[in-house]
Amino acid sequence: MHNLDALKSEILASFEAAVDIPALEAARVAALGKKGRLTALMKGLGELGPEERKATGQALNRIKGELTDALDARRNALAGSLLDARLTSEMIDVTLPIRPETEGRVHPISQVLDEMAAIFGDMGFTIIEGPDIEDDFHNFTALNIPPEHPARQMHDTFYFPEREDGSRLLLRTHTSPVQIRTMKAGGPPYRIVAPGRTYRCDYDITHTPMFHQIEGLVVDEHTHMGHLKGCLIDFAKTFFELPDLPVRFRPSYFPFTEPSAEMDIGCERKDGVLFIGKGADWMEILGCGMVNPRVLEMAGVDPKRYQGFAFGLGVERSAMLKYGIPDLRTFYDADARWLSHYGFSAGDVPSLVGGLTQ
Ligand code: DAH
Repeated sequence: MHNLDALKSEILASFEAAVDIPALEAARVAALGKKGRLTALMKGLGELGPEERKATGQALNRIKGELTDALDARRNALAGSLLDARLTSEMIDVTLPIRPETEGRVHPISQVLDEMAAIFGDMGFTIIEGPDIEDDFHNFTALNIPPEHPARQMHDTFYFPEREDGSRLLLRTHTSPVQIRTMKAGGPPYRIVAPGRTYRCDYDITHTPMFHQIEGLVVDEHTHMGHLKGCLIDFAKTFFELPDLPVRFRPSYFPFTEPSAEMDIGCERKDGVLFIGKGADWMEILGCGMVNPRVLEMAGVDPKRYQGFAFGLGVERSAMLKYGIPDLRTFYDADARWLSHYGFSAGDVPSLVGGLTQ
């Protein structure tokens, strides 16, 4: 028995001494393999008398069990430290800056939407979104564009197939339906901007079937046209980064505002190049007006108590003006060379993706 304990200790020591998996395997073969030391003792059991054979057999089995457990533990420990060694020697430093040529670029539309959202966010506007697929009521009727109204023809609408009740869903032709959804969702006051995609069946040098707008709506008990002008003038100067940007409001017509206006910014065209912020020319950048009382009424807001203003501006047009992009259609060519030229580094501006704090 005493010898068996000594043997066990020796074998255990040989397992501990193994520095890697092959060395451990060799120690295992030497002890438990076909010609191993313990195996030899087990083979010798037959030569013992019955009493002794029973006692020794039990002892050997117990030792074999202990040795197998120790072997497994040592194997796991070695595998673990092997992994540790690999992890330290093959470490990748994820804090190293990536090579510039493999860096993705932020599309000018995303950049400009983020810039606009940040400016209106600073003014206390909440940013909300509405669905791209709309119904006739939100896109037209509630905005005071009844059936047969000529403005419906001006919006070359993409319609879905007729439903059983004869109605047709459509791709929203502007972001203005978000005004209606906002007002129907809860009571005034409102101070929101709604950026998003809009769709019209149109394609030429200044039109793509999908484009972006940002809609604004401000309604309270005493909101007046002075607020409209102050807000939009501040916006334009901040967005174009020109504190002296010349601005004018021109009377216009939209069914959902009364009175309505378009806002122009001063510019100059010289030898085919457009300069913003100086010169004798004007360039339209947005439509706006005081919300038509009929629109308030249709959205469930009391027009005797509340009034406000709305505006809608084209994002592509603003991006082209600010960043000197000459052709609208290139926005959607998905050309990586174009994007590496006109795109932006991620992190230049706060991103909507992370949400805006107010
Ligand atoms: N929805 C208009 C369009 O797509 C733009 C617009 C004009 C929006 C005046 C407004 C507004 O909110 O007040 O052409």
